Amino acid sequence: MQQKTTLISTSQFHKDVYKGLTDFPKHLSSKYFYDEIGDKLFQEIMDMPEYYLTNCEYKILDKFKDEICRAFFKDSKEFDLIELGAGDGKKTKILLRQLATEEVPFQYVPIDISENALNQLEESISNELPSVKVKSLQGTYFETLEQLCTMQRKRKVIMFLGSNIGNLLHPQAVEFLMSIQELMNDDDLFFIGFDQKKDPQTILNAYNDTAGITERFNKNLLARINRELDANFDLDKFLHWEVYDPETGTAKSYLVSKENQTIHVNGLDLTVTFNAWETIHTEISQKYDDNVVSWLADKAGMEISRIFSDENKFYKNYILKK
Ligand code: TRP
Repeated sequence: MQQKTTLISTSQFHKDVYKGLTDFPKHLSSKYFYDEIGDKLFQEIMDMPEYYLTNCEYKILDKFKDEICRAFFKDSKEFDLIELGAGDGKKTKILLRQLATEEVPFQYVPIDISENALNQLEESISNELPSVKVKSLQGTYFETLEQLCTMQRKRKVIMFLGSNIGNLLHPQAVEFLMSIQELMNDDDLFFIGFDQKKDPQTILNAYNDTAGITERFNKNLLARINRELDANFDLDKFLHWEVYDPETGTAKSYLVSKENQTIHVNGLDLTVTFNAWETIHTEISQKYDDNVVSWLADKAGMEISRIFSDENKFYKNYILKK
C-alpha cells in the first residue's frame, strides 16, 4: 500500500469513533490509522519482508517501466499523469524518471489530502528529477479530480497504486471505479494495482508479522483514541487478530478484547463495555484475481487493456480504459 496521511475534521473523527464503539459488532474505520505515529508504523510495515505488496509493485514498475510509459504516452500530445494518494512517491518516481528520460511531454499531478505529504513530494522531485513538471493538488480524490476535469480537457492517465482499492468491499469498489470512469474520456487511462489471491499463509504473514509491527499499527487506533479523546484503553488487553478467507479473498483485521472490560472515552462522554473476546473490526484488505478485476471493471463501465505482473503473480498492475 501507499503511504497516506489523512487530515480529517476532528468532529468527523469524534462521530465515527462514537458510532463505531456503540454499534454491534463494534468497528473503527481504517482511515484513522494514519496519524503521525500511524504513518511511521505503516512506513515500517512497507519495509518488512512479510509485506510483499510494496516490493512486488516496485519490481513490476521497474521491470515494465518502458512498456508502461509507452502505453501511457500514446501520441505526441501532452498529458497529465494524475496520482490519487501520492504518499512518498518512491514507486511513482520509477515512472517519472522513465518518462523524463524519454522526454515525453507530461505534467505530474499528485492529489493528496495531506498538504505536508505533497510539499515533501514536490521538494524531492525537484531535487531528483528537476525536468519533471509537478502541479500538486491538495484535497479529496473526487472533488479534486472533478475540479481538474472541468478546468481543462487534456489527456489523462490516472494512477491508483498500492492496492488501496482493497480497503473497499466490492460494491464500494464498483462505485469508486464508476466515479473514475465518469471523469474519463475515451483516450484516458486508469492504472491501478490489485493485490492477488495467493497462498493464504503468505497473506496472513503480511498482516501479522512476528516482530509485532502490524500489531502496533492496528493498536495505534486505540492509542490514538486515548491521546485525542482522553480514553483509557489498555493496549495489552487487546489482541491483534487477522483472518483470511481464501474463498472470497478477503483479509480482515480485528482488535479482540481479552477480557470483560469497561472503557471510558471522556472526550465523547462515553462508557464502552467489552465482553471477553468481543471484537472491533478495523480493516479489510481484499485480494483479487483477473476474473474479479474484469468483473469489477465491467460493472463500472471499463475494461482491462493491459496486465503487468511480478514473477510470482503475487501482485498485478492493470491498465483499464473506458
Ligand atoms: N490497508 C493496508 C493494506 O491492506 C494497510 C495495512 C497493512 C493494514 N497492514 C495492516 C491495515 C494491518 C490493518 C491491519 O495492506
